[in-house]
Amino acid sequence: MKRLLISAALLIAAITPLKADEGMWLPALISERISHMQSHGLRLSAEDIYSVNQACLKDAVVLFGGGCTGELVSAEGLLFTNHHCGYSYIQKHSSVEHDYLKDGFWALSRTEELPNPGLTVSFLERMEDVTSIILKGYKPGKMDEAQRVKIVKKNTEKLVKEAEKEGNGLKASVEALYYGNQYFLFVFREYRDVRLVGAPPSSIGKFGGETDNWMWPRHTGDFSIFRIYADSNNMPADYSEANVPYTPKKFLKISRAGVNEGDFTFVYGCPGSTQEYVHSAAVDYIANVSDPEKIALRTTRLGIMKKYMDGSQKVRIQYSSKYAGVANAWKKWQGEEKGLKKMKTVEVKKEYEKRFSAWAKGTEYEGITDNLAAIYEERNSIYRAYEYYRETVLTIERLRIASGKSFDMKDYYEPIDREMFVAMMTAFDKGLEDSYKPDYFLQKRAQYGSMEAWRDAVFASNEEAKALSDALEAYFNGPILSKVRSLSESLDLVYRDYMRAQMEFEPNKAFYPDANLTLRVAYGHVEGYSPADAIYYRPVSTLKGIIEKDNPDIFDYNIPQTLRDIYARGGFENQPVCFLATNHTTGGNSGSPVLNAHGNLIGINFDRVWEGTLSDLDFDPDVCRNISLDVRYILFIIKEIGHAAYLFDEMCFED
Ligand code: ARG
Ligand code: ASP
Repeated sequence: MKRLLISAALLIAAITPLKADEGMWLPALISERISHMQSHGLRLSAEDIYSVNQACLKDAVVLFGGGCTGELVSAEGLLFTNHHCGYSYIQKHSSVEHDYLKDGFWALSRTEELPNPGLTVSFLERMEDVTSIILKGYKPGKMDEAQRVKIVKKNTEKLVKEAEKEGNGLKASVEALYYGNQYFLFVFREYRDVRLVGAPPSSIGKFGGETDNWMWPRHTGDFSIFRIYADSNNMPADYSEANVPYTPKKFLKISRAGVNEGDFTFVYGCPGSTQEYVHSAAVDYIANVSDPEKIALRTTRLGIMKKYMDGSQKVRIQYSSKYAGVANAWKKWQGEEKGLKKMKTVEVKKEYEKRFSAWAKGTEYEGITDNLAAIYEERNSIYRAYEYYRETVLTIERLRIASGKSFDMKDYYEPIDREMFVAMMTAFDKGLEDSYKPDYFLQKRAQYGSMEAWRDAVFASNEEAKALSDALEAYFNGPILSKVRSLSESLDLVYRDYMRAQMEFEPNKAFYPDANLTLRVAYGHVEGYSPADAIYYRPVSTLKGIIEKDNPDIFDYNIPQTLRDIYARGGFENQPVCFLATNHTTGGNSGSPVLNAHGNLIGINFDRVWEGTLSDLDFDPDVCRNISLDVRYILFIIKEIGHAAYLFDEMCFED
């Protein structure tokens, strides 16, 4: 008996991941993690988190738009997500007369809620392991990859069709996990009448802007509020005045009890993409080639944009969204490169591969890491060219306009683009060998003699611009992309074996599948971190910090006067704003509910700290932190700034 107990204890210890709090787990398999979660503070059962038989937390979480998460907070379809997730919809409703981006928006009644054509939210109905169904008819060893692909495709189509039979907005997909060692069916119900209910002014929802992005201490009120509408049967419907608020199977109760360092938290959402199990050669390329080069190219682009944006309010508005897009990844890569180097991820992986190879000797996996290294050797140079195209010549707006791509001329400022043309064409030309360039480029380069002369021709003649654009696009979509694709396929094929082999190599380690925008649960606890020697960051920020940053002369830090007035009245110094926790999240987790031990809403995830962005490749428990907006700040803003406290009537508070 005693021995049994000991081995059970060992088993529990063994199936926890190597590093505390790492992992994005499949809700349907959460029973495999539940005792670990409970030992860290969770008070719920696996069925509370995921069940197909009863209403559970998954029914309160949605995939919002194409790449964010949202959560239901009332019995009448009210939904929270991030301000940056709702941004483009808020922008579409904005005009000079009604600038909801600048001033915020609050629907005073249901009739004032604004429809958003094209915006959908999807609820997960169920997910299940369908590996045996998908691989039915496939005979390993007897069939080649092309035959496997065919079989997978055929079985997938059949399964999807069957799963969507009911109609009513059902959308099914089969996703490969662990590089195709496992297949899961996901069945969603997609609602398409989603209306804007409220948004704070950008000076709150985007407070800190690019300056504070990916950083702590953070004070961004990054939330917006929507409502899902349904037909009279509570089913998805196109927008109609006759639609009624959706009644969710489950909505989240809001906790106003607050967070303390050490508290258990978990995040339920849709992380987009991670690469935790890749070969050292992949990390080497990212840390030593891709990240540094892309950062340098974007530094140039941002510098050019900024110069003109600083000189004109109009240009600043025209380019602020583009600037944010370029700056977001630029900043993330800097943290990632630094983190990977600090963690010596390449060296650690190399050492792991050595041990793995010794183990694999004489098995079917012998030579697999060498095989991967050889493919990377070939892939990295073409992939570098692929990235160079995307980061240089393909960003030139003049070329996109000439090629007839949809482009908003309202947000175009030619002097920026002229300067960009010379800088990006020069970087492209210097950065890549001629063998990666179309003949047209080489001919014209000789003909014009300088990028300035070429620029003058391209900006003077639409034909000249189109010819260049066509040549570059054709070369990119042709030779470059086809080579990248075929090498990626070769890689994926080897990874399928390597992934399985890694699991056999470490049978006691719990492997979570890489993120792929499917619903996941991450868990951890509220915790600060040390970004550098002698500095410790506490995990909670407050309104006091906003007032400290407040500066009417700095765009990113200019808060609304009402907020200054409220603060001056006193009593709000300790109003919490954001908090840090150790949950493993990534892009796509934006808007995800952050829940306490009882499954009540304590915050909304919206970012990670800069030092921890290596978590997409390597989770460093010392510095990997997700940043959440404290739900109490949302309530504060709704009431004090939005004067929309009537929204509280439909929410449910449980402390
Ligand atoms: N860094 C966050 C995430 O990747 C927030 C991005 C939006 N905010 C911004 N300032 N660009 O996507
Ligand atoms: N800010 C990211 C998002 O938009 C979240 C992250 O990368 O941590 O999904």
